[in-house]
Amino acid sequence: MEKEQLLIIDDDQGLLKLLTMRLTAMGFTVTACHDADTALDEARRQRFDLVITDLRLAAADGLAVMEEVRALHPDLPVLILTAHGSIPGAVEAMQKGAVGYLTKPFEDRDLAAWIDKALAQPRMSREIQRLKQLVSELYGLENVAARSPAMQTLLQQVLRVADTDATVCLSGETGTGKEVIARIIHCNSQRVKGPFVPVNCGAIPESLFESELFGHVKGAFTGAVSAHRGLFQSADGGTLFLDEIGEMPPTMQVKILRALQTREVLEVGATRPVKVDVRIITATNKDLAQAVKAGTFREDLFYRIQVIPLTVPPLRARREDIPLLAQVFLRQSIERAGKTTVRGFMPDAMQKLMVYHWPGNVRELEHAVEKAVVLSPRDMITADLLPSGNGATDGAIKPLTEAKEEFERNYLKELVELAGGNISRASQIAGRYRADFYKLLRKYGLHPSDGKIKSVAPVAGTVLQRPAAERDIKSA
Ligand SMILES: Nc1ncnc2c1ncn2[C@@H]1O[C@H](COP(=O)(O)OP(=O)(O)OP(=O)(O)O)[C@@H](O)[C@H]1O
Ligand SMILES: [Mg+2]
Repeated sequence: MEKEQLLIIDDDQGLLKLLTMRLTAMGFTVTACHDADTALDEARRQRFDLVITDLRLAAADGLAVMEEVRALHPDLPVLILTAHGSIPGAVEAMQKGAVGYLTKPFEDRDLAAWIDKALAQPRMSREIQRLKQLVSELYGLENVAARSPAMQTLLQQVLRVADTDATVCLSGETGTGKEVIARIIHCNSQRVKGPFVPVNCGAIPESLFESELFGHVKGAFTGAVSAHRGLFQSADGGTLFLDEIGEMPPTMQVKILRALQTREVLEVGATRPVKVDVRIITATNKDLAQAVKAGTFREDLFYRIQVIPLTVPPLRARREDIPLLAQVFLRQSIERAGKTTVRGFMPDAMQKLMVYHWPGNVRELEHAVEKAVVLSPRDMITADLLPSGNGATDGAIKPLTEAKEEFERNYLKELVELAGGNISRASQIAGRYRADFYKLLRKYGLHPSDGKIKSVAPVAGTVLQRPAAERDIKSA
């Protein structure tokens, strides 16, 4: 956290010095002034978290200073220091809005306690602000890192369905952001003031599933010493997010189905069901249709949850989002690790992020950036700190030479096939001399025969053995 800024005013130079030392030791940044005018100048120039002023200053009145400061910054708390015997002044100070007063001489302990008290409210407001920011960063639609056409399309669908109560089924590979999307749906629905309750269906032991989801009454089974509210009821008025629904044991699938159909739950050991008002969002990284075919997922439940199926695309299918995501994670990691020396990525590092295949998707990117921030010895993250691996060019982007060669090879192959193996025609269409055309074919190890093209071992380099090549083709 950033250091809090204190402005202290006292005409007693000795005390001012002592206070500065003590407050600095307590972890504050201190601006010390021995007269009202300097203090007011400072208050105009800079934002402070707390003002501590002596009640009687040589040339001015501490109360007047307080009033002027508060005219500039109405929410700025002011703490008053008084000498013995000035209790009436202290009372007046409190009436005029000081947060407290300390009688000189005072103990460090008391000073610290008063400061804590004075800063409690602003600290709380700052924390709330920070959390709000965090939430809006994560779930405010405009701040979700989603520049790519694939994500834009998804977000449009999300916006369209968010405000309905329709059941949504999110599918996508691990780490693509299914839970982020689920929260966006909740935050953009009428249920935003209600709870969002995530349930990891893969993590609850089968024996506990029913009581976890539906709750139980006291004495329902051995160990049920008190009644327990289930997750369905906890989500009442809000959204229940059934994550990893493909992992749900078959015995539970039928019970969930009934709850979804009737919007009622039967607590374990109860005789009458209870109504619940929940919106259901499910997520899975499995192919549920396949699971239905394989008989591990109930078909009726499948149709019940697939009202609105949405797919969250893998990161390699939306590389345009990578720079923005990387920046978001960079900022978060710097804050988390307190490593303010790190400022950004070197161009080749960003390039590496762009071409990597990201099997673990957004979550893997998040971890990769976090690790690089922690390990980075310099202010710019270098490529060697980032993951690479086979498959690094497995997605859409390849180095230009490789992409060109791949194109050229396919082009030649198709062209020769189109020309029925007639190299003269093929070379004419390609606008190349026959000899050059042969040269190209050999470069790619292509071997025309009967209008079809066969691959042979490519010739290293471009050294030509033309007569042999011609013979090959003719005899083929
Ligand atoms: N568009 C995004 N913008 C910012 N952060 C994101 C985005 N998408 C995902 N994340 C972050 O990536 C991580 C993985 O996202 P999330 O948990 O939603 O994925 P998931 O698909 O539910 O993964 P799993 O299948 O493993 O449960 C989280 O830390 C999340 O905050
Ligand atoms: Mg998840």
